[in-house]
Amino acid sequence: MAAILGVLGVDTGYHPAAALVVDGRIVAFAEEERFSGHKQAQVPFPTQSTAWCLKEAGLGVGDLDLIAYGWDCDRYKTDIPLRMAGQLVRNLRTRKPTRGAKGGGSAWQRGALFLAMHRPGWVRHRIQQGLRKAGYTGALPPIRWYPHHRCHAATAHYLCGKERSSVLVMDGSGEDIATTAYRGDGLGIKKLWDLPLPHSLGWFYSAFTEYLGFRHSRDEGKTMGLAAYGSAVPEFTDAMAEILPIRRGGLYEFEPSWGKYGRCTRGEHYSDLVVERFGEPRLPEAPITQRHKDLAWAVQDRLEHAVAGLVGKLVSETGVGDVALAGGVAMNCKMNGSLVDAGLCDSLFVQPASDDSGAALGAALLGAAEFGDDPRSHQRRVDFGPAIDPDEARRVLDECNLSYSEPEDIAAAAAAELGAGKVLGWAQGRMESGARALGHRSILAAPKEPTMRDRVNLQVKRREAWRPYAPSMTAAGSQELFGDAQERPFMIVAREALPEAREKFGAVVHVDGSVRPQTVDPDERPLYHRLLTELGQHTGSEVALNTSFNVRGQPIVRGPHEAIATFYSTGMDALALGPFLLTKG
Ligand SMILES: [Fe+2]
Repeated sequence: MAAILGVLGVDTGYHPAAALVVDGRIVAFAEEERFSGHKQAQVPFPTQSTAWCLKEAGLGVGDLDLIAYGWDCDRYKTDIPLRMAGQLVRNLRTRKPTRGAKGGGSAWQRGALFLAMHRPGWVRHRIQQGLRKAGYTGALPPIRWYPHHRCHAATAHYLCGKERSSVLVMDGSGEDIATTAYRGDGLGIKKLWDLPLPHSLGWFYSAFTEYLGFRHSRDEGKTMGLAAYGSAVPEFTDAMAEILPIRRGGLYEFEPSWGKYGRCTRGEHYSDLVVERFGEPRLPEAPITQRHKDLAWAVQDRLEHAVAGLVGKLVSETGVGDVALAGGVAMNCKMNGSLVDAGLCDSLFVQPASDDSGAALGAALLGAAEFGDDPRSHQRRVDFGPAIDPDEARRVLDECNLSYSEPEDIAAAAAAELGAGKVLGWAQGRMESGARALGHRSILAAPKEPTMRDRVNLQVKRREAWRPYAPSMTAAGSQELFGDAQERPFMIVAREALPEAREKFGAVVHVDGSVRPQTVDPDERPLYHRLLTELGQHTGSEVALNTSFNVRGQPIVRGPHEAIATFYSTGMDALALGPFLLTKG
């Protein structure tokens, strides 16, 4: 009997995660934050998600053929002594300067830290220590480094369902590269060209996200949402053309003096030049003015222009119109929609885990391909995380001394709650991987009530009132919103709603008429599909407002404990936890 070919992919970037690929198939994939309870927490190694992945597959570390890491650590070789590297990490956490470090200042320290944290010996040490901490003893499998963008590219090409694809990876940085173009052909992923740092679209967008009073590298979605409230103002659009010029041939540049490589005394990602040009930055939680909205509009517009240039160049070179995107910048649904609108591609696949959690998955896929497996598939689901076990859910509910019912059909019972105008927590089946909740760990509401968006925003999610929500829908719902039944499974490509649908579905159509849709396939997600069809019996439309099951600043809930805690600490009215229904009042 052939030995199990198992590859564990790990990443410790902005979204630490672990993914397990066995015989070329994705068996388990989860972000560390769902286990630690700390959203996007930086960890030396994703210990808990790794332990869960192995348990899910019934494997031990010794069964693995390879540990695949989502960064090419050989590119980070430095002569910083290991002891000083450790001290840098500890001191930066406590904001102390490191003795003996050049300059002792934080800028050098951050740069040195980045190098130190990725050096091969240090990462190997962290992986070994993390596995030992998780209780694994004995010999460890080989560890192999994979270039960060290549990992993202694997999640795009191998999972797009096409034999050939034009792949574009854009993020903050992958080693010393910011943007990379590939040609995907069968199992081959051939690099065509790249744009090195500092020409980073991720850093460009992060600079203005931070300037607008949001957190860089985390809140870029807020800048995108805010942009819809703005309009073209020459002061800003002209400035963006200067900051992010697009050269002949479609390649952009990011002038480094405006971003984190410039003189930064006010922010980390925007330089003092930004303040000189546009005035005082917005403080977090300060009022948002029309000026902020117009600046966000110009930033978003420039990003869309730059990416359109890249896609146009890539498709003309490869002759392949099936485009696949990954990397953090591809989380920008509005930008993705603009590519479809511009008719630049025959088809567009955007990897739903385009953030750095996807690098863990990509590393595992690359490792599997190297071992001779074929990891290609057409990805149509994201629920690769831990499942809600009904027995465990019942035990937790009983332990908490909670009243609950067990309806004959939880989907019908949940739909009745939604039809009565209630806001419902929906925790079913396996947890989603990546940033989007797609009907497994979701907060749902009927979207027709005009005040529903404000209610969910303020009472449940506790987030800014101006931020939009996205809908899940059946094919019939899609017909109502868009006039077609096209498959759009991941809420990652924005589309424009029909004019007559904008008011009707006010809670899920953004101010500019755009929607981030998820269409639900009855074969892929039968329970969730039935909830939507049942909802249609109550409201006349098979469309639900769907937002992730968490509150501001917290990760999406994983199991019964987290779901119950979040339910009772928010204004949610009902909770469908596995087969059980809880209501308040
Ligand atoms: Fe990345």
